[in-house]
Amino acid sequence: MAIKPVLRMGNPLLLQRAEEIAQFDTPELHALIQDMQDTMAHMNGAGIAAPQIGVSQRVVIFGVGHNPRYPDAEQVPYTVLVNPVLRPIGDSKEEGWEGCLSVPGMRGIVSRYSRLHYSGFDQYGNPIDRLVSGFHARVVQHECDHLDGILYPMRIDDLRKFGYTDVLFPDADIADD
Ligand code: NI
Repeated sequence: MAIKPVLRMGNPLLLQRAEEIAQFDTPELHALIQDMQDTMAHMNGAGIAAPQIGVSQRVVIFGVGHNPRYPDAEQVPYTVLVNPVLRPIGDSKEEGWEGCLSVPGMRGIVSRYSRLHYSGFDQYGNPIDRLVSGFHARVVQHECDHLDGILYPMRIDDLRKFGYTDVLFPDADIADD
């Protein structure tokens, strides 16, 4: 359908709590997901949340095959997740580098729960229920944070571990976003 402009940090829409989807399998929801998919693919994102394209609804998509933005990352199955609920398993957290299409050209170290259970629905209303860990768990936490108006820099404990991608990783072939 269309590649949409991605809102960047500073836009107040990114700080709002997004609304639940009340009806599944509607033309509006399918069109939204198509736009998110086109935009994510165009930007080589690992995921995108509806608020990032200016739609304040609780919809995220994510998935990582081989991604030039995350060349060493584990693969994550392509997933459409509507009205997600996340439940961390245990208190164990791990640190890892994150970037965001709404914070272009930067990376920061964020601590996230290592394991979690997530549930929600796909665009047709079929339930999704998964137990995940590692990078998959990180991506879900990052994307679902967008639905509560949280951007990853707000989760950085040590701002010395936040910077421009090309300065942090001068030798890496990471897409400049
Ligand atoms: Ni993001």
